[in-house]
Amino acid sequence: MVRHFLDIHRLDAADLRAILDDARARKQARKGWPRGRVDADAPARDRVLAMIFEKNSTRTRFSFDAAIRQLGGQGIIANASDMQLGRGEPIEDTARVLSRMVDAVMIRANDHEDVERFARVSDVPVINALTNRSHPCQILADLLTIEEHLGTVEGKTIAWVGDGNNVCHSFMHAAPKLGFRLRVACPAEYHPDLRDLEKGGAHVYLTADPREAVQGADVVVTDTWVSMGDQDYEARLAAFEPYTVDEALMAEANDGAVFLHCLPAHRGEEVTDEVIDGPRSLIWDEAENRIHAQKAVLAWCFAG
Ligand code: CP
Ligand code: NVA
Repeated sequence: MVRHFLDIHRLDAADLRAILDDARARKQARKGWPRGRVDADAPARDRVLAMIFEKNSTRTRFSFDAAIRQLGGQGIIANASDMQLGRGEPIEDTARVLSRMVDAVMIRANDHEDVERFARVSDVPVINALTNRSHPCQILADLLTIEEHLGTVEGKTIAWVGDGNNVCHSFMHAAPKLGFRLRVACPAEYHPDLRDLEKGGAHVYLTADPREAVQGADVVVTDTWVSMGDQDYEARLAAFEPYTVDEALMAEANDGAVFLHCLPAHRGEEVTDEVIDGPRSLIWDEAENRIHAQKAVLAWCFAG
């Protein structure tokens, strides 16, 4: 069986736990090393990773490229618009061709179904690097960051404030796997997809009130109000106006609560400068942890 990494709800809880633990161990083991040095076990030695981007990216692009190098492998990055994919070549044909040329494929796609279609015919592991529907790699980095600062995420309460978007969906997928509570505050018209909400089950509580959501929270998370591909910019800014994460909202969370944001951030919209640049913000650790988390994902895929 090829090990794809498509969504957290499709992983066994034990595999998810193992990926997070491996990420942490790999990070520890190379403290102080130059960024280009290969990990001692080099689990991707002689392997090639293709990275395909249909949408913009800074963190995902550089972290996956750095990750495959640190694992001893090599990467090839392409924007979909430069590929025949961008001129209408069927995604299945692209998948079959790349299966003959590389050992794994990472895709950032506009339409989630395209990643599923790619994976259905691919002979090599496929990794979801963000779609309109989910962003599982981001959530691994977030969980790693939370556990570094607060200990095990099991039993913790995480508040999501803002858009019920792709990143929120992946958080909901992880909640029952790792046993944390997720309190989601969104305006009614921008609530999460009900299919994803269902996957969170009793671990997810949905409200329209950001103050209610952050009560008892150990972690407060937000994301942009306008994701890549969203068209209704003005309507969104108006609807989300009461959802800015500011000092007053953080004060309603638990003492010592930390703040996360996957970035890129829009200071003055979903979060104030004081919070994102303040002492409770873990955003730079969170961004760095994209490398460590994705190395563990790649190692897990290659071990399959
Ligand atoms: N958080 C994240 O995925 O960032 P990029 O869009 O820059 O990759
Ligand atoms: N929700 C955002 C995340 C960017 C990393 C988007 O999809 O644009």
